[in-house]
Amino acid sequence: MCVARCGSSVAAQRGDSEGARAVLYDQRLMEDDRKTVLIRLTKLLERAISASYPELDVGTVSVQPGKKGVDYQSNCAMAIAKALKTSGVKDPPQPREIAEIVRKNIPPNDIVESSQITGPGFISVQIKPPLVSRLVTQRLINGVQPPLVDRQLRVIVDFSSPNIAKEMHVGHLRSTIIGESICRMLEYVGHDVLRLNHIGDWGTQFGMLIAHLKDKFPNYLSESPPIGDLQKFYKESKKRFDEEPEFKKRAYDDVVALQRGTNPDVRKAWQLICDVSRKEFQIIYEMLDITLVERGESFYQPMMPDVVKDLQEKGLVQNDEGRKVVFVPNETVPLTVEKSDGGFTYDTSDMAAVKHRVEEGKADWVIYVVDSGQAHHFKLIFSAAKEAKYYDPVKVRLDHVGFGLVLGEDKKKFKTRSGDTVRLVDLLNEGLQRAMEKLKAKGRDKELSADEMEAAQRAVAFGCVKYADLSHCRINDYVFSYDKMLDDRGNTAVYLLYAYTRANAIYRLAGIDRDSLRKEASSVPVVLDHPKELKLGKCIIQFQETLDRTLKELYPHLLCEYMYELATTFTEFYDACYCIEKDKETGKIVSINKSRLLLCEATAMVMTQGFQLLGIKPVTKM
Ligand code: ARG
Repeated sequence: MCVARCGSSVAAQRGDSEGARAVLYDQRLMEDDRKTVLIRLTKLLERAISASYPELDVGTVSVQPGKKGVDYQSNCAMAIAKALKTSGVKDPPQPREIAEIVRKNIPPNDIVESSQITGPGFISVQIKPPLVSRLVTQRLINGVQPPLVDRQLRVIVDFSSPNIAKEMHVGHLRSTIIGESICRMLEYVGHDVLRLNHIGDWGTQFGMLIAHLKDKFPNYLSESPPIGDLQKFYKESKKRFDEEPEFKKRAYDDVVALQRGTNPDVRKAWQLICDVSRKEFQIIYEMLDITLVERGESFYQPMMPDVVKDLQEKGLVQNDEGRKVVFVPNETVPLTVEKSDGGFTYDTSDMAAVKHRVEEGKADWVIYVVDSGQAHHFKLIFSAAKEAKYYDPVKVRLDHVGFGLVLGEDKKKFKTRSGDTVRLVDLLNEGLQRAMEKLKAKGRDKELSADEMEAAQRAVAFGCVKYADLSHCRINDYVFSYDKMLDDRGNTAVYLLYAYTRANAIYRLAGIDRDSLRKEASSVPVVLDHPKELKLGKCIIQFQETLDRTLKELYPHLLCEYMYELATTFTEFYDACYCIEKDKETGKIVSINKSRLLLCEATAMVMTQGFQLLGIKPVTKM
C-alpha cells in the first residue's frame, strides 16, 4: 500500500509518463507481493487443465494447503472426472490418470519444485525454495502486506451489544472478542468497516426502572443519581413491579411516556439509567481495547412505525389476536412486529436495522456476531427482510456469526461458586491477578522493571482470555479455565508471546536493532538450506492465504491455528539452527548468521501482525 502511494505522489510531482510507469511498476510489485502462493498455484493448475481438456468447463479449481510434508494439494482431477461424465463422456478415465495428465501439462514455472499424485487422485505439490526465499525477502523489505481482495466493501459489524441495566455476561464477552477481531481483519484487508454496538436500550423494563428512579432519587433531574449497582436497582424495581399494583401502574405510564416521547423528564431518567450501564461497559471495552459506535435499539425507534406500515402495505403482516406478525417461507413461527398494546419488539428493531443499514448505511455486508441461541431469530429476520426487499441477496450479504456457550470447568453453565452470574469486571481482574502470580512464580519480577511487569501482566491476562476464545472454533461451546489459558505449553497466548519474546531476545543478544536488520534484507539473501529453515520460510509466507480463508469463513480460530503453527515451527528452527555462535570458553560472539536473523525478523513481523488482528498486545520482554 505504502509503496504504491509513495509512487503515485512521486508521479504526480513529475507529472510525466515516466512517473506513471513508475506507479504501475510499484503497484505491480506490490500486487505480486500480495498474491499468495495459493493464488499463483491455482492459476498454474487452471492453465494445465485447459491445456489438458480445452473444451471442458471444470468450474473453479480448488487448491488447499497440504498436510504432512505436502505444501499444497488439489482435487481438481475428481472435478474433471465429474465434468467429463456430465458432458457425456461414457467411460472417463480414473481421477489418478486424469491427475497425471494435468500434472504433465503444468507449464514451466518458478513455483513447483516437485509434484506427485497421491490418494485417489490428488495432485500434491512442493514449492520451490527460491520462491519461498524471495517472498520472505519481499516481506522484510515491504512489510507484511494484507492479501488482495476483489473490491473494497462497506461492512457493518454488529457485535458486543449488551443490555442496559443487565450485567454484561460471558456471552457478550465472546461477541465482543470475536467481533473486534473480525473487524480488525476486515479493516486490515482494506474494507470500510462500521462497528456497531446494538445495545438493548429500549423496552418495557424501562418503565419500572424509571418509576423506581423517581421514587429513590427525587432530585434526579438536578443531581446525577448515585446508582452504584444497577443490577441491584433492577432487582428492587422488579420486586416492586411484581408486588405493588400502584407502582406497576406508574411504571406502565412511564413506558408509554417514554415510547411516545411526550415527557422530557422521563426521557432524561431513561438517559441517566443508560449512562450508568454505559460507564460499566466502557470499563470492559477499555480493558480489552475494544472500539465501538453505540447505536442501540432506541436508535431505530423512530423508524419502526414506518417499517410496520411498509410491511403491511407489502401484504406481509397478519393479525394474530391483536398482534401484528410476519410469517416467512418454510417457517412456522412468525416474527412479531407489533404487540397488541401497540408496542414494538426486538424483531421490529432488527427489521428496521436491516433496512437502515442497507439503505442509509450503504452496507454491502452486514455481520451479526451474536450467540447461536439467536440463530433462528436471524434466520427469520433475514428471510423477512428479503421478502420485504430491504436487501437484495445478490448484492448484499447478511451473515449471522454465531457462537457456542462459555462453560465452567464443571462443563456446566458458567457461574460463580455461589451460583451467581459472573461479573465480567471481576473475571478480568482475576485474570490480571493470576497472570501476575504466574509471572512471579517464574521469577520474572527479578528480571523485569515494574513497568515491564505491568505490561507483561496485561498482555498475558487479556491476551490469554481473548486467545482462548478465538482459538476455539466459535460454533462449539468452550470451557473457561484460567489454568489452561495461562499454561505456557499448549496452544495459548502465553506460548505465542514467549515465542515472540524469544525472537526479540536474539536481537538483543546480537546487539542488532530490528530496523537496521530489515534494511539488510535487500542485500543479504534468506538461505533455506536447513530443513527447519525451509519449513519456517514456508510457514511465514502462508500468513496471507490463512487470513484470506479466515475471512471467507469468518472463523478466527483458523488464524489462531496458523499462529500456533508459526510459533512451534519457529521454536523448532530456533532449537536446531544457531543464529548466533559463541565461543564456548569466553562466551564472546564469534559469528552472527544474518540470514537466520532475517528469518527471525520475518517471523516476528508476521507474529506482530497476527497479534494485532487477534487483539493481543505483544511485549518484547516477558
Ligand atoms: N442485546 C442482544 C442480547 O443481549 C443482542 C443484540 C444483537 N444484535 C442484534 N442486532 N439483534 O441478546
